[in-house]
Amino acid sequence: MSKPKVLSTRPLFPAARAILDQHFDVEYWTPPERIPRAELLKRVADKDALVCLLTEKVDEELLATAPKLRLAATVSVGYDNIDVPACTRHKVVATHTPGVLDETTADFAWTLLMAIARRLVEGDAWMRTGTWPGWDLDQLVGGDVWGKTLGIVGFGRIGRGVARRAQGFHMRVLYNDQARVSADVERELRAEFVDIDRLFRESDFVSLHVPLLPSTRHLISTEAFEKMKRTAYLINTSRGPVVDEAALAVALEQKKIAGAALDVYEQEPKVYPALVARKDVILAPHIASATVETRTKMAVMAATNAAALFEGRRPPNALNADALGL
Ligand code: DGY
Repeated sequence: MSKPKVLSTRPLFPAARAILDQHFDVEYWTPPERIPRAELLKRVADKDALVCLLTEKVDEELLATAPKLRLAATVSVGYDNIDVPACTRHKVVATHTPGVLDETTADFAWTLLMAIARRLVEGDAWMRTGTWPGWDLDQLVGGDVWGKTLGIVGFGRIGRGVARRAQGFHMRVLYNDQARVSADVERELRAEFVDIDRLFRESDFVSLHVPLLPSTRHLISTEAFEKMKRTAYLINTSRGPVVDEAALAVALEQKKIAGAALDVYEQEPKVYPALVARKDVILAPHIASATVETRTKMAVMAATNAAALFEGRRPPNALNADALGL
């Protein structure tokens, strides 16, 4: 019997390929550049499943192009690239990769937090110019991390991982989310639930861990910067549009906050031009989950979800399983 056909928009990692190759007749997109939209639409047209990245939109247009499609698996936990209701209408199971990247992403939020507070990137750039004159008292003085207040916006798995790490730095942790976590979790993480205005007013570091939703788009805008401490730093490893980049550039220029460290951008791969030249900003290329271990787990998870559906099982990380009656 012929195997179902899958398009994978990346060659993935060997462990994930092994799963796909066993279950599917797989077409991998292998060129180093990402798959152009027209190519994606052409190649997905006769496929039963799609394994894609967060840079590929699974929308009404794509779904209408691929009448046989039964599954779209994004190799990411964020799924703002997938129109889930449209998938449900087309009877396509949408899956993502929750859980496997939480700790790695929390590590990276901390990497950014430490690097912006201690001006590491500026220091590295200076050393490479060969002009460093040697130690001096007021060189690249940054802000302390230990003992400060960390405000976490979005207290899901990643936000909580960031909070857990803060204990080692004897920080006070404030958090805001739609709902409070249990008293046990608050106690364990020594985290205090506060309203978002108080979080902005009292935090020395504001770290973002919310998904991109209509309610979180531009959550951090002029109004938020007005409330934040002039010595505060903003860390964003969530989704770019959560921060109004134009407002961020103005806030930095007017010294409303001390700095920002970003891993994600409003219009990736573009960076808001006014941010590029600023020394009080660190710009990372969306790499918070980028370790060999974690990216491998993400790819394996996507492949496992695809295999499950075609073996007649409910894919473990389906976003619309209930809606499709699986
Ligand atoms: C995700 O998975 O949503 C991240 O942005 C990339 O790891």
